[in-house]
Amino acid sequence: MTAASTTQTRTIRILDTTLRDGEQTPGVSLTTDDKIEIAQQLSKLGVDIIEAGFPSSSEGEKRVVRDIAKLGLTSEICALSRAKRSDIDAALDCDVDLIHVFIPTSPVQMKYAVNLTPEQVLESAVDSIEYVKKHGVKCEFSPMDATRSELPFIKQICQAAQTAGMDSLNVPDTVGIMIPKTTTQLIAELKTVVSVPLSIHCHDDFGLAVANSLAAVEAGASQIHTAVNGLGERAGNAALEEVVTTLHVVYQYKTNINTRLLYNTSRLVSSLTGIQVQANKAIVGENAFAHESGIHTRGVTEQPLTFEPINPELVGRTRKLVAGKLAGTRGIQATLTEIGINPTEEQLNEIVKRVKDLGDKGKLVTDADLLALTSAVMGEVIGEQKIVDLCDLAVITGIKVIPTASVRLTLDGKEYIASETGVGPVDAVLKAISKLTNNLEKIRISEYRLEAITGGSNAVAEVIIKVEDEKGNIISARAAREDIVMASVEAMINGINKCLLKNRSTKQETKP
Ligand code: KIV
Ligand code: ZN
Repeated sequence: MTAASTTQTRTIRILDTTLRDGEQTPGVSLTTDDKIEIAQQLSKLGVDIIEAGFPSSSEGEKRVVRDIAKLGLTSEICALSRAKRSDIDAALDCDVDLIHVFIPTSPVQMKYAVNLTPEQVLESAVDSIEYVKKHGVKCEFSPMDATRSELPFIKQICQAAQTAGMDSLNVPDTVGIMIPKTTTQLIAELKTVVSVPLSIHCHDDFGLAVANSLAAVEAGASQIHTAVNGLGERAGNAALEEVVTTLHVVYQYKTNINTRLLYNTSRLVSSLTGIQVQANKAIVGENAFAHESGIHTRGVTEQPLTFEPINPELVGRTRKLVAGKLAGTRGIQATLTEIGINPTEEQLNEIVKRVKDLGDKGKLVTDADLLALTSAVMGEVIGEQKIVDLCDLAVITGIKVIPTASVRLTLDGKEYIASETGVGPVDAVLKAISKLTNNLEKIRISEYRLEAITGGSNAVAEVIIKVEDEKGNIISARAAREDIVMASVEAMINGINKCLLKNRSTKQETKP
């Protein structure tokens, strides 16, 4: 059963605010180049409107919005503006298609955020909308904190905004206090006083931003404000990838989004903003299409629909079977087959036993562990398949010395040397390794964790590394040693070998 209540297919518009509300995520600051790259990707993805920034906030911000507007993207470009002529002038200077004018309408924000009376708020809203329209630009109006505003006042200001010429009305749930039922009720109330298209802007303070956005659509809203990976002020905005996939799959509505680009878009935004996506995040999290337990892996290898609501390819992903203590024989076999390793039934049973033993000891079974176990069981067969091998390594560090590392590696049996500097010895040595292995394939570290250090100064350090290839495939590897530099090097080389091995076996399989 789906949530679609009518057979008529609706198309819902997406206004993406990753570059504006998303950039307000604490700790995020994007350069002009970053913003342009994200804007190009959002346009390729198919968002209807890109909210590119808030031009009156700084000269730099104004320049970026103008630069994005000049790109000639398919998406319409929008600039945010307070209900002030000077702000609107800054937005007009950027040559955008649409100006999003906002002003607080809740008692608490009118009094403490802008110190205006309701009459002054209404007057500024009307004047600003008229001013935008006088310049021949489209205007979306937001009564900020709409969901904590008094209903008669918000109805009055929305009606006045419509008379002033707004093209669309956006309803911000600024502090995320709505639930689906109250959202539906508010949209229904506003529809009794305005006839322009309605839009919704939900924050995720209670984890309900996506649910509330969809409730607004059920009540008749035709546009949703989203941000990639759910970025935004505090707990963020409604996540673009979740909203869009639910609209397509559950409601069977349309958007103009090419869902197959959702994952790559998420990766790009994560790497440029530095905000990691949690592993269990819907649609784009690392585990969203990963299966470990035996019953699940057996099920999905037989028939993916058993434990997957959608084909991962729909959102640009691939299925991942994870070896762990809950893994079943067929799941582990499928993982090994995928990288071209075919143990006998007897060897497979022994590998599964060892994986489970490791898991029972509370160890995370990484891909590199699985390879090491398999290698041991199958008699070093896999060891011979090492593409990258460490021959030698020297590191210097000190107070007045820039940490520097030199490494000698073999790549496909040939020897190479490289040196690099870094913020510390580990950084330097990992950079030197990447410098060499990038000649084979661009593989970068997407996560580095120093997991467990026990005992005194001779304690064992456990390094867990995730490496990512250009297609976004992520491989994890681990190494434990008393020397942190050596543990890091071993984990990195394990990860790179696994990644290269996997990609080469895939290429082999796809050869005609
Ligand atoms: O959350 C909010 O209220 C906003 C406004 C600027 C629309 O981001
Ligand atoms: Zn917001």
